[in-house]
Amino acid sequence: MFLERTVSDSRTVLSQIMLINMANPAGNIHGGEILKIMDSAAAAVAKRHCRSNVVTARVNELEFMIPVHVGDLLICTAEMAFAGRTSMEILVTVEVEDLYSEEPPRTALTGYFTVVAIDEQGKPKPVPRLIPETEEEKQRYEERKQVYLERKRKLAAKKESLPK
Ligand SMILES: CC(C)(COP(=O)(O)OP(=O)(O)OC[C@H]1O[C@@H](n2cnc3c(N)ncnc32)[C@H](O)[C@@H]1OP(=O)(O)O)[C@@H](O)C(=O)NCCC(=O)NCCS
Repeated sequence: MFLERTVSDSRTVLSQIMLINMANPAGNIHGGEILKIMDSAAAAVAKRHCRSNVVTARVNELEFMIPVHVGDLLICTAEMAFAGRTSMEILVTVEVEDLYSEEPPRTALTGYFTVVAIDEQGKPKPVPRLIPETEEEKQRYEERKQVYLERKRKLAAKKESLPK
């Protein structure tokens, strides 16, 4: 198994034209449809990074900033932000392109997915170390590392407070 990988080793782009069966009667795409594509992109990145089965453990708060309509091209880019021992923090960015205008794609939302590598028994298994290369990747890595460590502290405190 690879002991370390870069962010670009696993970066994944999923693009899809939005169809009528994904929308409400007014033509707005359901948030759940977009979330499903984001989850698929995050899982693909995680599998590329660790080359094993994975499950999604957490999705951070998602804010839909602009509406997505039937006929729009959705461009979903996912990349590794941080790797813990068995978990991976993945940044997913969704852009929307109106295929009938000359406007460049606009960012509709971003989100972080925590995905855990699992073995054949469904137990968490170690993942390769992440090597951030660019300044942006290095900064994001440090930010998400702090979020990861803070969450670990809270989870440990919660477990400690449970009756034995
Ligand atoms: C995710 C799961 C494998 C974790 O199992 P677990 O026995 O709690 O494992 P651990 O406590 O050893 O944690 C394993 C890793 O997951 C992380 N993790 C566990 N629960 C988490 C949560 N709620 N949020 C974020 N990270 C979490 C831990 O921090 C740890 O990371 P690290 O190894 O990088 O430090 C398990 O809870 C599970 O299978 N959940 C269901 C997942 C699912 O069905 N998703 C939807 C379909 S894909």
